[in-house]
Amino acid sequence: MHLLHNAVCVGGPILFLLLFVSPSPLCCSSWWGGVQMGPPDPILGVSEAFKRDTSPKKMNLGVGAYRDDHGKPFVLDCVRKAEALIASKQLDKEYLAIGGLGDFTKSCAQLALGADSEVLKSGRNITVQTISGTGSLCIGANFLSRFHSASRDVYLPKPSWGNHTPIFRDAGMQLKAYRYYDPSTCGFDFNGALDDISKMPEKSVIMLHACAHNPTGVDPKPEQWKEIADLVKKRDLLVFFDMAYQGFASGDIDRDAWAVRHFIEQGHKIVLSQSFAKNMGLYGERVGGFTVVCNDAEEAKRVESQLKILIRPMYSNPPMNGARIAATILNTPDLYKIWLEEVHGMANRIIKMREQLAANLKNEGSTLDWQHVIDQIGMFCFTGLKPEQVERLTKEFSVYMTKDGRISMAGVTSSNVGYLAHGIHAVTK
Ligand code: LMR
Repeated sequence: MHLLHNAVCVGGPILFLLLFVSPSPLCCSSWWGGVQMGPPDPILGVSEAFKRDTSPKKMNLGVGAYRDDHGKPFVLDCVRKAEALIASKQLDKEYLAIGGLGDFTKSCAQLALGADSEVLKSGRNITVQTISGTGSLCIGANFLSRFHSASRDVYLPKPSWGNHTPIFRDAGMQLKAYRYYDPSTCGFDFNGALDDISKMPEKSVIMLHACAHNPTGVDPKPEQWKEIADLVKKRDLLVFFDMAYQGFASGDIDRDAWAVRHFIEQGHKIVLSQSFAKNMGLYGERVGGFTVVCNDAEEAKRVESQLKILIRPMYSNPPMNGARIAATILNTPDLYKIWLEEVHGMANRIIKMREQLAANLKNEGSTLDWQHVIDQIGMFCFTGLKPEQVERLTKEFSVYMTKDGRISMAGVTSSNVGYLAHGIHAVTK
């Protein structure tokens, strides 16, 4: 600074201009000049494009978010009631523990594993509250990356939820795939899956969608799950269950948890991600859980300590509001009863829309086989539309969906199902 001052005084105004007024590459260069424009998110980017469309007929069938039959976001009655109950208690806003709200994590694990679960009784699980399903997967992926030294390979079903890949990749795991969906039947490729699983190297991680597979809406039947569980055991694979739609497949919470509970009964020490975004409609509240089923309670304590070490530098501790709502519903018998009915109601409305969509396609004169629209379950229908057909549907009919041909059935209503069928028929005939 001293030298600079002297130079300016001695060199006079010209040097001053050179130093401070003329454009210098230093002062004008940007820190971020080398940052490339990234592509929009394949799922959430669809909602952004939808918002920009001014057509009164536009439909957003991209993101999996439940809408009522008027196309409006749906806040469950049990949620409103739980919120009122919580507000009346005038609770404080102190930090939660690193692992989250105890009342929530206990009932979250119970919801997945079942009230009679031996794992819960013997205390050989650890469940932490997470930032919804994505946060749970992220904690899980990073936990594996740090402690599952036997293998870095994570086998995802083909196809899988779009966010699985970056979550595991960013955590440093190696992405692999196994056959899952058969485009020729629009159903489950059971033999292909078994064949691929039988070749997975021992100790690899296999990702299984517990129910309402995203994006295909195709689940194994119980008999098929049993065979998968046996083979996975033979191969000594570590099972990572993603359960983001418990209740949305069949309308029944326990039925949808069948695969998870079966694997545990068969002795699998699974890890499990749960989300309450869909089944409680708590999307923006970001409520989820991550569970590790351990050998015994002592191991669970050690795993817990490491999960806390992982979480603390990421976000310190989770937010409390959504967890309080979920815990209140799960622990208040009257609210729990209302919730079960509402989950059933949401699942049923989707089933009705599947039937109406298939019927409307037939009425439009489509000669294609749309039975899979009815047979697939959960929030999504994997239509079989090709990317160019999806593009036409969006451009010509303002129907927004992901490029893989997935539509969120939860965005279809009694009043727009006819229009959707009309559009689909127009681009597939
Ligand atoms: C979806 O698949 O649409 C949902 O799971 C929402 C999301 O975050 O992708």
